[in-house]
Amino acid sequence: MSRSAHPAGPRYADVHTEGHYSPPPADLNTLDEKVWSRTVGRDEDGVVTVAGLPVTRLAEEFGTPAYFLDEADFRARCRAWAEAFGKDADVFYAGKAFLSRAVVHWLKEEGLNLDVCSGGELATALDAGMPPERIALHGNNKSVHEIERAVSAGVGRIVLDSFQEMVRVAHIAQSLGRVQPVQIRVTVGVEAHTHEFIATAHEDQKFGIALADGQAAEAVRRALRLDGIELVGIHSHIGSQIFDMAGFEVSARRVVELLAAVRDEHGVELPEIDLGGGLGIAYTPEDDPREPHEIAKSLTAIVTRECESAGLRTPRISVEPGRAIVGPTAFTLYEVGTIKPLEGLRTYVSVDGGMSDNIRTALYDAEYSVALVSRRSDAEPMLSRVVGKHCESGDIVVRDAFLPADLAPGDLIAVPATGAYCRSMASNYNHALRPPVVAVKDGGARVIVRRETEEDLLRLDVG
Ligand code: LLP
Repeated sequence: MSRSAHPAGPRYADVHTEGHYSPPPADLNTLDEKVWSRTVGRDEDGVVTVAGLPVTRLAEEFGTPAYFLDEADFRARCRAWAEAFGKDADVFYAGKAFLSRAVVHWLKEEGLNLDVCSGGELATALDAGMPPERIALHGNNKSVHEIERAVSAGVGRIVLDSFQEMVRVAHIAQSLGRVQPVQIRVTVGVEAHTHEFIATAHEDQKFGIALADGQAAEAVRRALRLDGIELVGIHSHIGSQIFDMAGFEVSARRVVELLAAVRDEHGVELPEIDLGGGLGIAYTPEDDPREPHEIAKSLTAIVTRECESAGLRTPRISVEPGRAIVGPTAFTLYEVGTIKPLEGLRTYVSVDGGMSDNIRTALYDAEYSVALVSRRSDAEPMLSRVVGKHCESGDIVVRDAFLPADLAPGDLIAVPATGAYCRSMASNYNHALRPPVVAVKDGGARVIVRRETEEDLLRLDVG
């Protein structure tokens, strides 16, 4: 039974079926390059380093728990995506995965665009000087204020999610004397092969306008009639953490069918198509993600082929990877506090963070790997469950993984691939203080999002 299928949500740590973890690796000291960021290694003392910095020193300087983000890796991934898609396509980094002002600077410098999905993300982007024309605004219920802010800033596109919103955006743009470029987000009836909560293109969900029953065609009809907006394309996002390109293929085909129908009905060829984000990353060595150039090649081929057979000019393609850029670039560093062996079952390893810095395990049954990073160990592998310090038995960071049997309080362990949707979904549950994000590069480390303090918490509590 899936934990998330439990009607009351996760109650006990053991509602999950047992035995679905992989066997221990031959050497627990090995750092699989699939899950660790590119500059991670071990020094001759056995201490793990990132960008040349030993984690023991980082822990002393910045404390634990903390996220360490490998800036060179982040930039390299941005470049790989931009180069893979080339100058005839656009890559929008999905800021929901992780956004900060430093990230915006990196995106600007590496030539990427930015997808924001809230007023807060828009404010961060604008504050850090992202050129507005390189920003896209998403959201299924954008407030009037958010729309006004986006239109007056001059964002490059607003992705319309509903009929009501279309009218709202058109009205606001007209009253501001603007014509706002928009795309319409359609749901293409594809359910990506991933966790139910993060698959978004099947019909029974809140996002977008269904292609089914002529809904999307009707949306296009209305959009083309409205003053204040200029319909430039169709958008589709089919889910998250997807490895199988088949879902994108069906989605692209259906979107192109709509473009052909629009041309036939209105004599208009919409110039843009956005296929969303959702490309998977390796959380454990078993995961096998595709490289950006393979993804670009296959998406471009699908769209080109479908357009050719429909007699359409190939539209400008855009994509919105979030996780695939930032996910692999960071790890979370924790200190081990207590260790509770359960004979014949597993050992519970409690760390100084938990579900407040990584909710994904509790929420989606996400899998992670973990390693002892403050030293090398040749002790036997020990089946472990890494848990946090929250008052909740579902507070699990890594459900099943092997750590060395000589693990002791005070050791540092790290969970890789926590760059996406960990800090951005972090909470103050139990009045936990959200950890800092420290960017590391070429032997230097700097805080880009500082650790929360008790003063931060109390400042919001006005008594
Ligand atoms: N574009 C749109 C319209 C989206 O809704 C999303 C993600 C993305 C792009 C970026 O998807 P990515 O490439 O990062 O997978 N909190 C969940 C993921 C929710 C994703 C929501 N939308 C998780 O932790 O897995």
